[in-house]
Amino acid sequence: MSAESSGMRARYDRAARRYGTWWSPVLEPTARRVLERVDPKAVAGAPAILDVGTGTGTLAFAALRRWPGATITGIDASGGMLREARGRAERLPAADRSHITFQVAEADRLPFPDRSFDVAVSSFVLQLVPDRSAALREVARVLRPGGMLAFVTWMTSRQSFPPDEAFFDVVDELELPDDDREEDRSGDFASAREANRELRDAGYRSIDARRDWLDHAWDPAQYADFLEQYGEYELFRSLPRRLRLELSERTRERLGELPAEAFRWRAPVVMVTARRPA
Ligand SMILES: C[S@@+](CC[C@H](N)C(=O)[O-])C[C@H]1O[C@@H](n2cnc3c(N)ncnc32)[C@H](O)[C@@H]1O
Repeated sequence: MSAESSGMRARYDRAARRYGTWWSPVLEPTARRVLERVDPKAVAGAPAILDVGTGTGTLAFAALRRWPGATITGIDASGGMLREARGRAERLPAADRSHITFQVAEADRLPFPDRSFDVAVSSFVLQLVPDRSAALREVARVLRPGGMLAFVTWMTSRQSFPPDEAFFDVVDELELPDDDREEDRSGDFASAREANRELRDAGYRSIDARRDWLDHAWDPAQYADFLEQYGEYELFRSLPRRLRLELSERTRERLGELPAEAFRWRAPVVMVTARRPA
């Protein structure tokens, strides 16, 4: 594992509890639409489903609710995220609990034999893996021939979000350090066409890649809490108390000046389904 990917894993380990509170509810409605795109024939009977980068288990639990006969395996690089997922699994009825397992693993080194799964799903992960082509090929390896991959991830966007602009104006005014962390990640897709090409190059066929949107209306009063508790948590924590309070107060002031419509967030994503050739 590269230093960068172990840095990312450590960050998710630290953020796991806060992720479940602050970020996963924002992603969840869009993540769940991935399941609507899975061909019902691929999940007939008692399918084996892999959730790649399951995090706190959003897609894994939604898949189990949707297909109660399925056996679901969620993998993630972060043990901290999986601790949260396992905590959720413990609250399931015992009969359901036996259908879901979580395992620490990297997307490009899956600890499963070839042809182990009927379907693989993933939400908001494939932008993070260091080598997306390697991860896609590895997922194809563990899919049975004809098996289906369905995922969503971010598409690059030039659209700015006024609450973030307001926050970074304050960061600049206070002359706080920019987060210039370099990460070894694949990044967002530039277009649906690029996603299609990457999937084809990784050996998939019957590819359907399309742009979609994540729409979320932030509660203006809560957005400052979100920044402090999740979005810009590391920046807030890195500051001495006086500066931290000043950043918090000025941010709240600026956000309070924005109209409620400014908090409607619309971000482009790519929704993809594809098959491992039969
Ligand atoms: C934004 S979260 C998405 C979690 C979940 N799928 C969801 O929709 O809420 C990204 C997840 O990908 C995991 N991740 C990042 N790189 C990974 C890799 N190379 N292999 C496996 N998991 C990875 C992170 O640990 C984190 O849990």
